[in-house]
Order: sequence, then C-alpha cells, then structure tokens
Amino acid sequence: MSAALAFLEVQNVTMKFGSLTANSDVSFSVEKGSIIGLIGPNGAGKTTLFNCITGHYVPSAGKIFFDGKDISGLPPYVIARSGAVRTFQIVRPFKEMTVLENVMVGAFLRETNVKKARDIAERCLDLCHLNEVRDKPAGDLPIGNKKRLELARVLATGPKLLMLDEAIAGLTSTEVNEAVDLIRRLNRQEGMTILMVEHIMEAVLPLSDKVVVLDGGVKIAEGPPDKVIYDEKVIEAYFGLKFSQKLMQLQARGLKNDE
Ligand SMILES: Nc1ncnc2c1ncn2[C@@H]1O[C@H](COP(=O)(O)OP(=O)(O)OP(=O)(O)O)[C@@H](O)[C@H]1O
Ligand SMILES: [Mg+2]
Repeated sequence: MSAALAFLEVQNVTMKFGSLTANSDVSFSVEKGSIIGLIGPNGAGKTTLFNCITGHYVPSAGKIFFDGKDISGLPPYVIARSGAVRTFQIVRPFKEMTVLENVMVGAFLRETNVKKARDIAERCLDLCHLNEVRDKPAGDLPIGNKKRLELARVLATGPKLLMLDEAIAGLTSTEVNEAVDLIRRLNRQEGMTILMVEHIMEAVLPLSDKVVVLDGGVKIAEGPPDKVIYDEKVIEAYFGLKFSQKLMQLQARGLKNDE
C-alpha cells in the first residue's frame, strides 16, 4: 500500500466490449471526504466506469485502488463489503417485498441481526423521507420514491464511498432540492465520500468539489466545476463544435451577445 494513493484511485482504466471501447485509459482520483461529479453526454462511458469500479465488469486494462487496496477485478460483493457501494441508474427493487424489507436487504450486507438490520433500515427510510410508504410493496411506488428507495437501500449498507448513478434524475424540482440537501448532509455530517454521475447540472455542479468529464470513453476534462464548464472541449462535447466556437468567440468579446 502506498501513502500516495487517494481514497479511490482509477488508473488507466480501459473497458472494451468487442470492438467498442467504452472507457479508454481513464485516470482520476477521489480524495476522502470529497464530492466528485462524473459527467458527460449520453453514452460517454460513465455507467461503464461505475461498473468497473464496483466489480460488475472486469476492466480490460488498468487498475482501481480503494481505501489502500487493489480492488481491480474483485467480485461486486467483496467491493461492496469494503465500502464502495453504488445505486443503479435503472432501479429494480424487489417488487413484492415492502419498502422496509428492500432496505433491510441492504443492511444485511453487514448486519446479520434482524432487529439491528431493521433499525438501520428505519433510519435510512427516515433520511430518504420514505417512512409513510414503508409497508407498501416496492413495485407500487412511483418513480420518485423508487429512486429514493434505491438510495435508502445503498445507505443501509453503510457505504464509505457512495456512488450515485443518476440517483436524482426523474425527480421533481422540489425533490431534486431535497436530494441535494441530503447528499450534502451525508457528506458533511456522516463523512461519506461521494462519486456522482448526474446530468442535472444544477445539482451536480454546486455539490462537487471536482468534476471529471468523459466523452466517447475518454476523460476530456477534470477540475473545479466553475472552470470545467467553460472548457472548450466540454462545451463541444455537450453542444457540438459549432456552438462551442461561437461561444468562445463571444467569450473573447466579453460575452456581448447583443451584436
Ligand atoms: N454491456 C455492454 N455491452 C456492449 N456495449 C455496452 C455495454 N454497456 C455499455 N455499452 C456501450 O458503452 C458505451 C458507454 O455506455 P454507458 O452506459 O457507460 O454510458 P453513460 O455515460 O452511462 O450514458 P448515459 O448518460 O446515457 O447513462 C455506449 O456506447 C454503450 O452502448
Ligand atoms: Mg449511464
């Protein structure tokens, strides 16, 4: 173990599916206690990178270190037990089980005592404002509550690194604000390190200490949010080359778009 390793260290990760390279030589680090935003257009390779970190895919090349250990290629349950746990972009709760029971499944990752697992689950339901629906079958929940349930299930595992894959997409604007507050609280009060993939810029930019941008599987930018959003490559990735060039011209002229 090297003292120079960050809490999460992604080193030169490449993930290929046949001839398609979904992640190409991606490196970045996540410091303990920080919130990192992983952004990029659709198909950029964000979920694939999550899958590599959490062991759902074995990277074609590269290494991943978490909490001082090489976790590259380890099975998902071993990585989850070590404290790196993610939400899924497409949420699939156990439909027939109640909301509370679904969250208890998360708690059972660490806790074998049923009473203690229930206590943990109840606390997570509280945090995610799900108490009122705790006894409903999870399959009956609308999407907003299903998203909250996914977060509560992961929180119940007791993560050290919380990885959110579009955990707030599909929520109303009030729910987004609540989720932003919750993520901030988890970070500041519970000491969780957070790596979040999110398209909702109003949420991810103010929350993040650092943003990593992927496009076409390649890391195209990394840095503080207020710098990265003005990066020409980032603007080009989101809006196309023409728009990016026009914006750069406007910026050079001091953003006078009244001409
Ligand atoms: N299991 C797989 N087999 C083959 N190709 C895959 C697989 N998973 C992802 N891909 C491809 O890898 C590329 C990156 O996909 P990925 O889901 O990682 O993107 P993303 O950045 O999460 O996009 P989005 O913002 O739409 O969720 C896409 O071209 C996708 O079709
Ligand atoms: Mg995705």
